[in-house]
Amino acid sequence: MKHPLLIGALALCLLLPAPPGVLHAGSNSLAIRVDDLDNGDGLPAAPFRSTPAAAGTAELPRIVSQDGRHALMVDGKPYLLLGAQVNNSSNWPDMLGQVWPAIEQLHANTVQVPIAWEQIEPKEGQFDFGFLDTLVTQARQHRLRLVLLWFATWKNNGPSYAPSWVKLDDRRFPRLFNREGRRLNSLSPLATATLDADRKAFVQLMTHLRQIDGDRHTVIMVQVENEAGTYGTDRDHSPMADKVFAGPVPEALLRATGKSGGSWSQAFGNDAAEYFHAWHVAHFIGQVAAAGKAVYPLPMYANAALRDPFKPGPPGSYESGGPTDNVLPVWKAAAPALDVLAPDIYKPDYAHYATYLERYARKDNPLFVAETGNDKVYARYVYASLGAGAIGWSPFGMDFTGYSNYPLGARKLDEDTVELFAANYRVLAPMAGELAAAAYAGRLWGASEPDATHEQTLDLGDWQVHLGYGQLQFGIEPPKGNPDRSGGALVAQLAPNEYLLVARDVRVNFLPARGRKVDFLLDRVEEGHYDHGRWIFRRLWNGDQTDWGLNVIGEPRVLRVRLATY
Ligand code: DGJ
Repeated sequence: MKHPLLIGALALCLLLPAPPGVLHAGSNSLAIRVDDLDNGDGLPAAPFRSTPAAAGTAELPRIVSQDGRHALMVDGKPYLLLGAQVNNSSNWPDMLGQVWPAIEQLHANTVQVPIAWEQIEPKEGQFDFGFLDTLVTQARQHRLRLVLLWFATWKNNGPSYAPSWVKLDDRRFPRLFNREGRRLNSLSPLATATLDADRKAFVQLMTHLRQIDGDRHTVIMVQVENEAGTYGTDRDHSPMADKVFAGPVPEALLRATGKSGGSWSQAFGNDAAEYFHAWHVAHFIGQVAAAGKAVYPLPMYANAALRDPFKPGPPGSYESGGPTDNVLPVWKAAAPALDVLAPDIYKPDYAHYATYLERYARKDNPLFVAETGNDKVYARYVYASLGAGAIGWSPFGMDFTGYSNYPLGARKLDEDTVELFAANYRVLAPMAGELAAAAYAGRLWGASEPDATHEQTLDLGDWQVHLGYGQLQFGIEPPKGNPDRSGGALVAQLAPNEYLLVARDVRVNFLPARGRKVDFLLDRVEEGHYDHGRWIFRRLWNGDQTDWGLNVIGEPRVLRVRLATY
């Protein structure tokens, strides 16, 4: 169903009277066409439904997709998850005092916090949701949203977060075996008792969550397990698993891969063992997610310990069975209840980072960078990730409990490190919903500073944007790169010839598209910022500030750029 209106969610707030000093944007609003937001359910696009976002009435968080693009809808509006994940063992009431100050300093809008199986079901059948209750109450006090991380059968390969009655009962909840017959500390995805027990606990969790938060949606998404899969083997080689491996490939997987049948080895050759393990891990997690959604259907996802995209090595040298880039179609077929397969990106170099973004931003998979390193070099990647259409981005280990996962992340989460991330979130957070809407409408582009080259071009259609990193603010001088590679830019189209630019440590030049011969100029460049979706004008840039491109050095800045031909 098409809707003729040409006004966006943000434009609605712009109809309100402006306080003194606020420019009424009118055509300057981040206008997103309503039919860009139509998700094909025959109803008006979500931001325009009459349901107010007030507690108790707003619709459930959900993910919508259209033309290969995706949006996370929260309270009926596109939501950009500017996240932060706490350290693994920060999931106790006493630790939260060291969590909130870090999140506040960071200006994140969402926090990812583990909920451990051992914590909610220490004795079989006896549940304790004390921490969850505290967490949700305090998150509301801090005006933050939450993503819960279900640490259960898998926490990075092993069952460390499963209760003792699970992890110590190998007969009932069997571990798997490698090819040489050695038992590994990773539970078999084929064990129905494990699935039953995990699923039961997860259903209790989602039931309790619905009771305490079903009308508020403080929790907007749930991660099911954590970096599932197994190190040290391609699959379970127990006699029980061997028997299933000799049997037929499930129909759904044959359909998804276009194979015509036979055994796993006949259908998938050298990939058979890994596909088998991926299918069963995904199927297990898909069952847990589906049961949880049956009681409270929040968006759910699984995160991946990534394999090297260039030199992956054999399965088992990386976490076999997890949602690595080579088995995404297997996961999609095995676990349709999962909305997202999300990369955890801990490679700081540009080539790896950009490749991971490319591999996980798919028509059938919304990009969500569920974890990334919290060292300084990672801060810039928020720009490329959002430009690639990410529904969210989240550095890991963002609390003041004093733990550091160096060399994956920062050696120390000091003020300077937090500030590098915070400076970006400070400008992005007040316009997060508008950026999410722009991405969903296909009108958002972004880039982060590369390592080897110091220039990039974004293709916006009629115009292109040239980015030069490490240049003086005045005069002609080739880009040399910033010493700490801190540069990045995000461009959203507001209207024909009108763009919103967020930039940091970069010289930005708007140019006509390649081959388009026009005389053009920067008609108007406004510097300002957003405040709850409203544009606050600060000054115009002109003269030296525009003659050598738009040079943004130091703090990120937000500019509204109007181009014209003459
Ligand atoms: C990725 C995992 O998902 C996190 O829980 C954590 O263990 C980091 N690796 C390492 O700090």
